[in-house]
Amino acid sequence: MIDALSRRDFVLSSAAVMPLVRTAVRVGPGSLGAPAVILRPPARPCVVASANGIRGVAKAMDLIVNQSADTLDAVVEAVKIQELDPNDMSVGYGGLPNAEGVVQLDASCMHGPTRRAGAVGALEGIKTPSEVAKCVLKYTNHIMLVGKGAQDFAVQFGFQIENLLTEQARQAWLRWRANLSPDDNYRDIPEGQVFPTPPHGTINCSAINASGEISSVTTTAGLAWKIPGRVGDSPIVGAGLYVDNDVGAAGSTGLGECNIMVCGGFTTVEGLRRGLSPTDACLETLRRAVAMSEARLLDANGRPKYDLQYYAVNKRGEFGSAGLYAGYKFAVHDGREARLADGAYLYERPTGR
Ligand code: GLY
Repeated sequence: MIDALSRRDFVLSSAAVMPLVRTAVRVGPGSLGAPAVILRPPARPCVVASANGIRGVAKAMDLIVNQSADTLDAVVEAVKIQELDPNDMSVGYGGLPNAEGVVQLDASCMHGPTRRAGAVGALEGIKTPSEVAKCVLKYTNHIMLVGKGAQDFAVQFGFQIENLLTEQARQAWLRWRANLSPDDNYRDIPEGQVFPTPPHGTINCSAINASGEISSVTTTAGLAWKIPGRVGDSPIVGAGLYVDNDVGAAGSTGLGECNIMVCGGFTTVEGLRRGLSPTDACLETLRRAVAMSEARLLDANGRPKYDLQYYAVNKRGEFGSAGLYAGYKFAVHDGREARLADGAYLYERPTGR
């Protein structure tokens, strides 16, 4: 019985049962015999991201802890580091283009405290689609803008239209086009970097602050050499990411088509809601994705020929990540340091993949 315990004993016994609960406050005697102690949300800030977010998790944690930044602003600033980096060919400026050599970007974000979302799809000419998605969230009654409409909207909010195709990405696209078929009129180019399967890359970043406020963002250049207009999972709220401020956040990287089939962001957060740990929630969603995969996407052993990863943080600030295959890492800042951690996985990676 709580009433029979001193405040000190209550805090100690609570800490034994729920080690992550760090804050208890005494309030005045409640009416009708209400408990004299109310537990606040556990106050453990955490930022979790895909491995390419290692600089981003440090940035977001600094903004949250040292500058009292809102969690959405913090995660968007985190992923902008990659969007603006021409050497990250999976995201933003420098991303690999579609089949016609045009860079088309997708992004989405969610702000847990206000239960708002914003997204852009097939956006051309804007280096930081995550920021445009944040503008959709903040300044409109809509959730997703695509194509020319998204670009016009971005210009109205002060974004510059720029050429996003770097020389490195253009050369990669020319090589892909030349080597596509021996029967076309482009001579094969044997030398230079060759991507055996169309590469795809993405960054997802989620954060919780000391008040238990949660946000997430996902941004990508999508699948390289895609059919123009293809939109992947990243801008789809519920697939590329999902946030429930009472429960946690989850996001995804990897082959978007397979994630869309299981609404992976939402499904993972629902796992958290049922009490799964973040790692187990990610693993459960991966198993669903494999079960939903068409035969052409699986090898002779029933294992995926594609890659897929999930990242999650719950309301206590516990985090986890899981991918299909061993040997991948994710980025996390748990309040102590930014580091790359080993992700959980379903399968050992076959040799040669
Ligand atoms: N997950 C990124 C994409 O497939 O577009």
